[in-house]
Amino acid sequence: MPKDSAGHLIPGRIGPDRPVDASIARPEYVGRPAPAKHTGGDVYDDETIERIRAAGTIAADAIMAVGAAVQPGVTTDQLDAIGHEFVTGHGAYPSTLGYRGFRKSVCSSVNEVICHGIPDDTVLEPGDIVNIDITAFKDGVHGDSNRTFIVGEARQEVADLVERTEESLRRAIRTVMPGRRVNVIGRAIEMYAKRFGYGVVRDFTGHGVGTSFHSGLIIPHYDTDRYDAEIVPGMVFTIEPMLTLGTHEWEGWDDGWTVVTRDRSITAQFEHTIVVREHGAEILTLPSA
Ligand code: MF3
Ligand code: CO
Ligand code: CO
Repeated sequence: MPKDSAGHLIPGRIGPDRPVDASIARPEYVGRPAPAKHTGGDVYDDETIERIRAAGTIAADAIMAVGAAVQPGVTTDQLDAIGHEFVTGHGAYPSTLGYRGFRKSVCSSVNEVICHGIPDDTVLEPGDIVNIDITAFKDGVHGDSNRTFIVGEARQEVADLVERTEESLRRAIRTVMPGRRVNVIGRAIEMYAKRFGYGVVRDFTGHGVGTSFHSGLIIPHYDTDRYDAEIVPGMVFTIEPMLTLGTHEWEGWDDGWTVVTRDRSITAQFEHTIVVREHGAEILTLPSA
C-alpha cells in the first residue's frame, strides 16, 4: 500500500484533524488561506530571542520524542500524533497545523521525499529513513527544527548520507558570522556535499523565523552569488540543508505539498533555528536533555 512495485512511495490515507485546546494561542494564519506579510525584520531583542528559544526547545524535544518512536511498523500518522501531543502538551501550537492548508502537526518525509511529507497511513519499514520536521509556536514566536531518523538499520550509503547531511548543517552553522553574507551558508554546504557527489536541493531554502513562520528572508543551501543579505547580530533564521543520493531536481505530488526527488533518489535533511551573535551562531533548537 505505501509503496508501488518499484519500492517508491505512493500517497497514503490522511487521517482526521487533531484538535488543539482553545486555551492554546494560534498563529494569525490559522483559518486563513495564507499568512499576513511579515513586518519587523529578522533582528530580535534578547527577550524575544529567549521566547524563540523556548518555542524551539519544545520543537526539538518533540522531535526527539517522535524519533524515539520511529521503528518498523509505525505509521507516519502515529508519529504525527506523538508530535502533536508533545507540542500541545507543552502549551504550544504546532505551527504547520493550518499553515497554508497543511493539515498535520508534523512534516514526515520518507526516503525520496525531500520535504513537506504529510503524515498518513504509510507504514515505516526497516531501512527506510524519515525526516521529522516540527515547528512550535508559543508566546507569539516560532521555533523550527528537523532531524532525519533511520528505521532500524539502513544501507551504508544511506546511513552515510544521513550522517553527512547533519555534518553539512554543522559546517553551515560554523560559517555564520556578522559581516558575512548569507550565501556563505550555501557555499559551505555545497562544498562539503560535492565531495560525496550528493545532490544539493536549491529550491527549498532556510528562512527567517520568529514572530512569523517564514519571514521572507531566504537562506540558500547551495553555492550562489544571489541572496547577499548581510549577517548581523540578533538575526534569527533557519538552516535546513537537503542532500540527495542523486539529482537536486524535484517534483511535487498532487496533494500540493509532498516534494520528491525527480529520480526518486533517497534524500535527508537536518534543520536548526539559529541566532547570530557577535562571535557566531547560537542554536535555538537544541533539545533540553
Ligand atoms: N517546517 C518547514 C520548514 O522548515 C515548513 C513546513 S510548512 C508545511 O520551513 F506547511 F509544510 F508544514
Ligand atoms: Co524551516
Ligand atoms: Co522546519
